[in-house]
Parts: sequence; C-alpha cells; structure tokens
Amino acid sequence: MIEDIRRCTDEARERVAGAQTVDSVRAVESDALGKRGTLSGFKKRLGTLSEAERREVGRELNDAMAAVRAAVEARRAELEAGERRARLRGERVDLTEVRPGRDAGHLHLVTQVIEELEDVFVGLGFTVAEGPEVEDDWHNFTALNFGEHHPAREMQDTFFVGLGSPREVVMRTHTSPVQIRVMEQQAPPIYSVMPGRVYRNEATDATHLAVFHQLECLVVDRGITFGHLAGTIDMFTKAFFGAGFSSRLRPSYFPFTEPSAEFDIQRPDGSWLELGGSGMVHPNVLRNCGIDPEEWSGFAFGFGLDRLAATRHGVGDLRELASTDIRFLEQF
Ligand code: DAH
Repeated sequence: MIEDIRRCTDEARERVAGAQTVDSVRAVESDALGKRGTLSGFKKRLGTLSEAERREVGRELNDAMAAVRAAVEARRAELEAGERRARLRGERVDLTEVRPGRDAGHLHLVTQVIEELEDVFVGLGFTVAEGPEVEDDWHNFTALNFGEHHPAREMQDTFFVGLGSPREVVMRTHTSPVQIRVMEQQAPPIYSVMPGRVYRNEATDATHLAVFHQLECLVVDRGITFGHLAGTIDMFTKAFFGAGFSSRLRPSYFPFTEPSAEFDIQRPDGSWLELGGSGMVHPNVLRNCGIDPEEWSGFAFGFGLDRLAATRHGVGDLRELASTDIRFLEQF
C-alpha cells in the first residue's frame, strides 16, 4: 500500500507543479485530498491492516497528505500572486508615459457637443452668449412669465441658495434665464445661442442628472413667425445630426412661449428622439425686457445636451459622463 501511496503522492505533486491556474490547483487538491480523493481513499483501507502495519502506513499517509497539501498551498500562493501582478499591470496608469499626438487628452463629450453646436449656429449667423449659473428669481422664473405658484418653483425642482430673501437666489434650472439677460443687455435684432450647465433638485439615475447641460436659442426680430422656428430647428437638425434626420413639433405648454411646442428629431431608421421645448416668445417676456411686442416678435428653443452626447457614443448611463476613470475616458 505504501508503494501506491507514494505513486499517488508523486502524481499529485507533479500535477500541482504543472498547474497554470488557481482553478486547476483546486482540481488537483480535490482529486487527491477531497472526500473521494485518491489519498483519502487509503484512509478507509487502513482498517483492514494489522496494528503494526496500520501505524507505519498511517504515518506514511499522513506525511503524504501533508506534503500534497503543502505543495497545493505553495502553488496556489504563487499563482495568486502572479494573477494579482497581471491584474495590477493591466490597471496601471503610467502618468509619465509620453504618447505623441495623444497627450493633450480630449475635451469632455458634452463640451464637444457644445462646440459643434456653436459652430453650426455661428455658421447660421448667431452669436454665443452666457449667463451665471447662480441666478435670481427674476431671471430664472418671474421674467419668464412663471406665475407665482407655478409648480416648477417648488422645492423639489429647484436648488435654492441661502442668499438674499428666502427663495430669491437659485441654481438656474434651465438656460432660458440667459434669454432674459441677452434681451436686457441688447436691443433686437437678436440671434443668439446660449449653452450652459443647469441644476435640478432630482434623484440621479441612469437617465437623470441633477447637474446637466442645455443649449438655448433665441431669435428676436421684425416679422419672426412660427415658420422661422420650424425652419431653424429643421436646419440645425440636419446640420448637426446629418441630412438623413428630420424634425417635428408637437403642441405643448411653457409659460414663456405662446404658442409652445416640443420638438423631436427623427433618425434615419424612422425612430423619434424627444429633444426639447420651443415656441414663440411670449409678449409678456418681451415686455419684461423692455422690448415692444407690437414691433418685435421672436422664437426660442432649448434642449438637453447630456443625453445627446451619451447616445452618440453609446454611453448607457448618464452618470458615466462624470467619470474620472482614465480607462473610460480614453475610449473617446
Ligand atoms: N427651459 C425649458 C426646460 O428646461 C426648455 C425650453 C422650452 C426652452 C421652450 C425654450 C423654449 O427656449 O422656448 O424645460
């Protein structure tokens, strides 16, 4: 029996030495030492031996099992260390590495979208305007014709800043207040786009962010009609997305436009993507900015940019747009 034990032991040690993965070490361990293992099998047969033989064979068997166990542990530790080294090597970020042509990194996906949209609109003769992210109630709501009790003023939507009188200072909830700032600062004709960051007091998930981006468009001139609005949206749709795309308007409601419409774009495969809101600038809004609605009319539209940036790059979770993981960022 001792012969057999030695043969099994040698065989197990040989297999352990040759194992290339932690899993195959585990397989040898179970084949030799497991409940139905070859060495465990000898234990059951000890009972058939005489007392003296049993002592000798028993000692041999204990030593053999200890030796195999030790070999298994040693090989497992070796392989685990190797796997860990390989994983660390794979995850390593070499901050000193110089890769000609790539070292400048790239602009954020949303910034790329903003720059492309600006290019499209500047090409159509528009200017680019910006406004503050911390706004007052007048620009974010009141001047935009939000009634005093409009639900969008409620706590669940708006982050209030602890400045001024209660609820007077807000993180802007949309880019529409920049329309007001532009009209306050500049006489018509106005052809402007206003990109920027906006804030909503919302739970974030894969399709909603509390901090996101919009682009606003405002035109005020003599004789501006709903046709100009529809035409501009369709033109920008084709310029930004491609000739195979088109747009449609659906009746809607916003306090600062009348009539109001939501707009969707149609992809070449026929599917629709809801993009944003639009409408003819409400006469009250023009008046609030000192512009005579009898002389001037205008249209406006606004839409979110984060979903655009994400869809375009197949990013399924909007929260990834805030990722700082270089392995994620390097894909774009
Ligand atoms: N500000 C609106 C929002 O955040 C979007 C919007 C609707 C902008 C209509 C506009 C507009 O300029 O005319 O939901």
